[in-house]
Amino acid sequence: MADTSFDFKSLADAGGPVRRFKAGEVIFKRGDAAQELFVGQSGKVEIRQGSRVLETLSAHGLFGEMALIDSVPRSAAAVAATDTALIPVGKERFLSLVRNSPDFAISLMRLLTQRLRETGRETQLLNIEAITASIAHEVKQPLAAVSIQSAAGSRFLKMTPPNLDEVQASFESIRRDNHRAGELLDSICTLFRRTGEVQQSINVNEIAREVLESLSGKLKSNGIAVHLELSPKLPVVLGNKTQLQQVIFNLVNNALEAMGTFGGGNKTLRVRTEHRSPAAIALSIKDTGPGIGPTQLEDIFDAFFTTKSHGTGLGLAICRMIVERHGGQLTASSDGESGAVFDFVLPIE
Ligand SMILES: Nc1ncnc2c1ncn2[C@@H]1O[C@H](COP(=O)(O)OP(=O)(O)O)[C@@H](O)[C@H]1O
Ligand SMILES: [Mg+2]
Repeated sequence: MADTSFDFKSLADAGGPVRRFKAGEVIFKRGDAAQELFVGQSGKVEIRQGSRVLETLSAHGLFGEMALIDSVPRSAAAVAATDTALIPVGKERFLSLVRNSPDFAISLMRLLTQRLRETGRETQLLNIEAITASIAHEVKQPLAAVSIQSAAGSRFLKMTPPNLDEVQASFESIRRDNHRAGELLDSICTLFRRTGEVQQSINVNEIAREVLESLSGKLKSNGIAVHLELSPKLPVVLGNKTQLQQVIFNLVNNALEAMGTFGGGNKTLRVRTEHRSPAAIALSIKDTGPGIGPTQLEDIFDAFFTTKSHGTGLGLAICRMIVERHGGQLTASSDGESGAVFDFVLPIE
């Protein structure tokens, strides 16, 4: 195959005066207008967003091309990490090189593809690491409890006479923690499952009624009044019934738990559906619990974010994922004191 490599360094000979930066010097800031891209001749450059280093480029690296090509301000800063020499290439010159030198264009493509691959792999690894650490952390808790309870159980068994009531209690709590670990793993599987699922026409009013029916005992025993405001002319949506049921179940369950622990007098759950726009329907669930503080309104959708001693923090992460897979959006709002509203919008076909 013909050698298509282009020595970026040769750009220096083609006129561009080399610019030198001392270690620590800023090459451009976020928000700056993009006049040129840079090719490294020597030294190292860091691409930063705030204090986060997105990338470190060494000699021959090329950077600053994105803002130049898109004609938008810089989205990140570039800082010389060591004493650095750079060749600036203006937009016109860059475009004429692309047009006139196939070797330049191919070398450029090769460089950008390689960079994309590297950052892709890195993000993937980062995610896997963070997810594995969270899963390990979550699953270790019930396992640790099981180990403590079995030690306690054997101590009670060795007493003379053995304290069988306590042994029984230890077994019972081992069973509960085991169940919890199982539930946790099930939820994690749901979170990552790629479903080649069955799509069917769904009447959201109907599944809302079914979920409320299945939770009616719990709602009653917690003294919660339910207000149903279901739009009689709700169009059907296309989706997975079990998954959408799970979304409503999780949201109602959260509302129930929020009101259950809340001292406030009037406990009301309002479930409303509407044909919100020509192309979408919406379902909202409003409770009169303690609400959600403004700083937590987005965090609550993160996997493992929970404020409950026995929560998994997976409910809302799963809900949002399911809704988004259906092409919809799930959002929360609250004034932070008089309850929360969860609203989800689904496209009609
Ligand atoms: N209706 C609600 N009212 C107040 N806070 C809520 C409500 N729903 C969810 N939250 C908050 O969001 C967190 C995450 O919810 P979720 O993902 O379902 O996990 P979990 O219920 O296991 O804690 C909860 O721990 C709670 O702090
Ligand atoms: Mg929950």
